[in-house]
Formats: sequence, C-alpha cells, structure tokens
Amino acid sequence: MTDALGDWRRSHSCGALRAAEAGQTVTLMGWAHRRRDHGGLIFVDLRDRTGLTQCVFNPATSPAAHERAEAIRVEFVLAVRGVVARRPPGTENAKLATGDIEVHVGELRILNEARPLPFPIEDEVEVDELTRLTHRYLDLRRPAMYRNFVIRDAVSRATRDYLHAHGFVEVETPFLIRTTPEGARDFLVPSRLNRGCFYALAQSPQLFKQLLMVAGFERYFQIVRCFRDEDLRKDRQPEFTQIDIETSFLDRDELLSLIEGMVAEILRRIHDVELARPFPRLTYAEAMERFGSDKPDLRFGMELQDVTALFRDGEFQAFRQVAEAGGVVKAVRVPGAGGLTRKEADDLVATAKTWGAKGLVWIKVTEGGLQSPVAKFLEPVRPALLGALGASAGDLLLLVGDARPTATTVLGRFRVELAQRSGLIPSGGHAVLWVVDFPLLEWGEEEGRWQAMHHPFTAPRDEDLPRLESEPGAVLAKAYDLVLNGQEVGGGSIRIYQQAVQQRVFDLLGIAKDEARAKFGFLLDALEFGAPPMGGIAFGLDRLVAILAGQDSIREVIAFPKTQRGVDPMTDAPAPASPAQLRELGITVVDWDRNRS
Ligand code: AMO
Repeated sequence: MTDALGDWRRSHSCGALRAAEAGQTVTLMGWAHRRRDHGGLIFVDLRDRTGLTQCVFNPATSPAAHERAEAIRVEFVLAVRGVVARRPPGTENAKLATGDIEVHVGELRILNEARPLPFPIEDEVEVDELTRLTHRYLDLRRPAMYRNFVIRDAVSRATRDYLHAHGFVEVETPFLIRTTPEGARDFLVPSRLNRGCFYALAQSPQLFKQLLMVAGFERYFQIVRCFRDEDLRKDRQPEFTQIDIETSFLDRDELLSLIEGMVAEILRRIHDVELARPFPRLTYAEAMERFGSDKPDLRFGMELQDVTALFRDGEFQAFRQVAEAGGVVKAVRVPGAGGLTRKEADDLVATAKTWGAKGLVWIKVTEGGLQSPVAKFLEPVRPALLGALGASAGDLLLLVGDARPTATTVLGRFRVELAQRSGLIPSGGHAVLWVVDFPLLEWGEEEGRWQAMHHPFTAPRDEDLPRLESEPGAVLAKAYDLVLNGQEVGGGSIRIYQQAVQQRVFDLLGIAKDEARAKFGFLLDALEFGAPPMGGIAFGLDRLVAILAGQDSIREVIAFPKTQRGVDPMTDAPAPASPAQLRELGITVVDWDRNRS
C-alpha cells in the first residue's frame, strides 16, 4: 500500500546534506538504493540523481516510521522527513559526499513500490545489452549513465555558447526531404497525400545549409538528428546527432581556426584542459603513409616505416617481387610484444589475410638474433632493419609487402589493435588533429566509375582545377576531418559555389545532367542566383561525447539507442504496420526474396 505525496515538498536533494546542516529538519525524496536491517535499526540509503543519503529508522525516534520501513524494498520510491545528525564517530563514510551525516527519520511515506529488478542499479553491472536496453529507464537510473548525459548536455551547451558568441544562428531544416548526398542508404517515409511517393529522412542538412548560405545567413549551425540506413557498429547508429555548421566568405584556414576555438572551448569546459593551437595537421597522404589510417591515433607512436629499399635487391623473393612490381614493404614495431606464442603469431598472419594482405612477416627480436619463419632471408638486412625501426630485444616487428594502399592500411590496423592489446595507448589524453587534402575522388571498383570521397559538393583545390578531367585521381579536395584519439569526430569541406565547376564534377562522377537536375536541381538553380563562397563541417556529437565520457560505444551516450540490428527492444520498433495503415498509403508488402526463389 502506498501513500500520497500530499503537501510534502522536498527541502534538499539526496546529495546535498553536510555536517553543517546537523540539527535541521529536512524532507528528502528518492529511491531506496539499499536497505539494511541491523537489530532493531533499519538503514535505507536514499538515492536521487545527485547522490545518496543514509536514512535511519529507529523505533525510539518513531515507532510508526520504523514499522512502515519494514515494507521498504529496493527501488521503492520514498519521501522521508527527519532530523540531520552527525554519524556516530567511526561510522563516517569518506567515500560518500554525505558520509558525515545521516537523517533520523520521524515520518515516512512510501510513494510507490517496485518489482524485483532485472539488474541492480549500480555503476558497474554485468548484464547483457539487450536486457539493459529492454529496461533502458532502469539502466539510465544508474548514476554512471546519468553522468554521461550531464556531459552530453554540457557539450551541447558549450557548443551553443561558443557559436552564438561568434555570430552563428541556429536554424532548423527539414527531416522529410528528397534525398541527401552523404552516400548511405536513405530511410524512406511513404506519403499518404501523394500515394506512391516517398520522402527520404535527411542523412544530414547538407543541401539546406548550403541554401541558407545562398540566402545570406552567413553563419548557420544546428544540433540536429541525422538518419542513415547503414550497417551499425559501436560508433554508428541509424539516427545520430550532428553539430552541423556552415559559413560564408571564409577560406579554409579561417574556418578551421574558428572550429578549433569551439573544440578547445568544449575540452576546456568538460575536461579542464587547454588544447595547444593551431591543431596539428597531416595531409591525407602523410597520415596514410605514417599511420596507415585517415584517422590516426596520435596518443602513441609506432609509426609505419617504409623498408622497401632493404628488400629491392635482396634474397627474399616475395618482397623483391613486390618492390619490382612497384609495391612497397612497410613495417611497424610493437615495443615489448616479442613474447607472443607461435599460435598468436599465426593468428596475426590469418588476420592480415582477412584484411586483404597476401601475407604478413612477423619477427621477434631477441638477444640472440631474429626469430621468424623467414629469418634466414632477413639476416643480411638485420642491422639496417633494426636501425630503421629503432628495434631492440623484446620487440615484435610486422612487415607487409603489397600495393601501397594495402600494405599501409593493414599495418595501420595492426598498429592500433596491437597497441590496444599491449596497453600502449595512454588513457585520458586528447590527441587532436586535422587531416586535410583528401583526394576529391575515389575509384569505385564495383561501380566502375569515380565517386566523391566526401560528397559531390566538395570543392577541388584551386590549383587542381585544370587537371580535373585529365588526372581526376590526382585532384585533391578542400576537405578536412577532425580526428580525436583515433576517431573521426568531424568532417567537412569548402564547397563548390560556381555552377560551372559543379557541373564538371557531376560529369566526372557520371551523374547525368537530367539525373543531377532531378536530384539536386534546386541547388544548381540556387548556384545561379548569386551563391557566396561557403564551407562548413559537421561533428558527430555522439562520438565526441562518448570519447569525452570515456565510453567505448556511442550507445552509452544516447538515451534510447538501437541495437546492432537496428531494433529498439524496449518499444519493439520497427514493427509491421496494420493493413489499414498500409491501405491508406497504397502499400503492399511483398517478400521479394521468397518470390525470387
Ligand atoms: P559526414 O558524413 O562525415 O559529413 O558526417 C559528419 C560526422 O558525423 C558522424 N557520423 C556518425 N555518427 C554516428 N552514427 C553514424 N551513422 C554517423 N555517420 C556519421 C561522424 C562524422 O565525422 N554533411 C557533411 C558535413 C559537411 O560536409 O559539412 C556530413 O554529414 O563523426
């Protein structure tokens, strides 16, 4: 049986009381976090989002309250009224902010009861994610989860404060749109009023923010939900949030500097650190060459080395052939990892193959020499190899000889994975950098044509414009990514603002004139009505917050996320629509796969 709240009002939160309040009568409300029966005395830790207060039910203080307290179970919702008292000497709890005091309860109201929980409300819980997501409201009751959302809120606030202080205006753009060019699959929404027609959910506000620049808004931002139907990973959700920004009349370096200010402000507020500015910059080519990744984690070294020259005329056939065929031999040193077993080494070779390499040479450096399946071929280059990598006894060396992109990306993945495994990545650092000068285009093997590496509105560098048609693969873009601790947290570009250039890029991408008209006609029109030079960026807010909150997955910083299969196990979305709904929309659901077989 429960009690009404009546005229009771909370006087303090559960994390507020200190010794200074001793003697005061207070009213607290919250959840029964723990309940202990100690021979006549009942102790209840009362919890709200601010903390815990120990409440003591003593029959000598109030027989009625004590008797009522017998009914309290974990996660019951309570209101207590009582007197703050210092805890008896020796019973203080230094780990708790309220650990010097307790409340001697005179009156208790049980506002609600709770069924036994599927998992305890503790910072660390050992339960599978499905159970957590099915009862997400309980999962979010855990203090550690609430802290993630306080951080998220602080990041949004710092962003808004900074951008407002720099003349930006927050503008909303539509979710139900035609289509966006971000390259993922669209989520489609059927239109009842226009049967057979579908909206796409915006993958980003990209086209609309460019139109706001044509409109003369000059500095736009929006903290905005984006929708992409892609395969999900721990850093990807079908709906996620961007800090989306667009500006006019700024060149790349002015824009990057403005954005650095925002990132620095966020880090200052959340972690009280002062980032050195300007942020380091690597070109895409340099990042790939030195780290085998376009989002290098600079919290640790382990740079890749090019050791092709050592093998060009050597006895090791495999590498000599690679060098003769124009490939490269790249190497990475994993400090102190030379103790791995034969099985572990073989597993690395198998992994390299699944990542697309023809093979992997592993070398354990020991006091007595090199241990490797190909040790005898390596002997002639041993001093040079050890010198090039700065290797000494106890290290593990990995070498891949292959076409340059394969050799670098495979070793780049090993660099991160083995650093993680060996505990070589310092925690708590903030390694921030820009990766700039991305190629404008990448060759799509499947499609057999060039594709935009960022999106088709990204401007080529001015000096590359003359070779757009003659050497498309060599054209670099005014595109940039912001990388934090090895994750791409933001990406953007200076845009094409002249219709003629836009048309040349569409031609290169094989987007026919009528296709471009049909998809982006409104943008092409707008470019003919006095579009200013413009550029912008979008940050993945979820990724940024996850890093700042020390979380591995963005699901930890999204209140109601989807599983890897795109399902919300709490609401059971997505679900079949009713026949009535489908009829209204003019839709029949066909099992295409079954019809095919
Ligand atoms: P882009 O596609 O690079 O650029 O997206 C910007 C940032 O959004 C984050 N992000 C995601 N986060 C979670 N789940 C996802 N599925 C997901 N996809 C992307 C990443 C990424 O860096 N319109 C352009 C920006 C511009 O050019 O101004 C855009 O959307 O952190």
